[in-house]
Amino acid sequence: MGVVKSVFGSTKDKKIVDCYTLKNANGMEAEVITFGANLRTLKVADKNGKLLDIVHGFDKVCYYEDNNDTYYGATIGRCGNRIGKAKFTLNGVEYQLDVNDGNNNLHGGFNGYEKRVFDVVEVIDTDEPSVKFHLTSEDMDQGFPGELDFNVTYTLTKDNELKLYYEAVSDKDTIINPTNHTYFNLDGQESDSILDQEVQIFADTFTWADNESIPTGEIVDVTDTPMDFREFHAIGERIEADYEALKFGAGYDHNYCVNDTDTMKTVAKMRSVKSGILMEVSTDLPGMQLYVGNFIKGNQIGKDGKVYQRRSGACFETQYYPDAINHDNFKQPVFKAGEALKTTTVYKFSV
Ligand code: GAL
Repeated sequence: MGVVKSVFGSTKDKKIVDCYTLKNANGMEAEVITFGANLRTLKVADKNGKLLDIVHGFDKVCYYEDNNDTYYGATIGRCGNRIGKAKFTLNGVEYQLDVNDGNNNLHGGFNGYEKRVFDVVEVIDTDEPSVKFHLTSEDMDQGFPGELDFNVTYTLTKDNELKLYYEAVSDKDTIINPTNHTYFNLDGQESDSILDQEVQIFADTFTWADNESIPTGEIVDVTDTPMDFREFHAIGERIEADYEALKFGAGYDHNYCVNDTDTMKTVAKMRSVKSGILMEVSTDLPGMQLYVGNFIKGNQIGKDGKVYQRRSGACFETQYYPDAINHDNFKQPVFKAGEALKTTTVYKFSV
């Protein structure tokens, strides 16, 4: 129980990367590394009491440094998901971001927060262990205005919750939309597929997107579509359905409108019959991207030599809607100078 610090490795330019292991009294364990404040390991008990590592990750820092497309366990910033044409206007000024995904900006740009070495500014070594990671993102970092003081705290609670709390404040008006890009496979990271695992999403609507996954601004009803997860469905059940949104996304890769308040709410669940593990996701943010690893190419060696396959993990990325800054009808991720973003996402586990 508590927090243990160890050395994980070092970056190509010789910066030490530490690993913080958080453990609770039930044996649940999370490993977070200072490289990107990435969640590397999450061990949860299955129905037989056996601990399963249920997230994708790497065994070496260099694999994290070289990874430009799958974002395993990643802390994403300054702005998660896509920004159309990699441009936005704030206070009458147009900002140009990295064009790192077709014509668009994805997850901040080439040098995302998941590739920075974070400082650890607080460790709480109790029966609810927690570690606070800090990063300073300079003015115009990735093209975003304002020097941002960015913090993410990981806490493991007595109730088997992994809690992510983000706190960020800029010295100029800016946009902030952090998320976490962990791939969950409730049968363990050795399992090649999540298609039999079931998902429930408490959303009546999702944001329609074009063939570059940029929202058109339309909010679409899920009723009578393969996007409807208001009851549990296996991920694989309808993923190949003849439905335009699924073709555009190469499978599920869509933002659900999950929360129209700014208070905490359970927005999604995932469960595996095989392991018996149930995960419940809650957040105070308005959106959640369900992404099921459609673009994993099967060419990356993950933990313990495991080669991760297409659709072997599912991400539940809580967020402001994609490209919100370019759509007036979406809740805006705009924060005034000195105005703090504070947001929480919880992943809770039981059998
Ligand atoms: C997701 C995004 C996907 C893909 C993935 C990274 O958040 O929705 O389209 O880009 O990140 O491989």
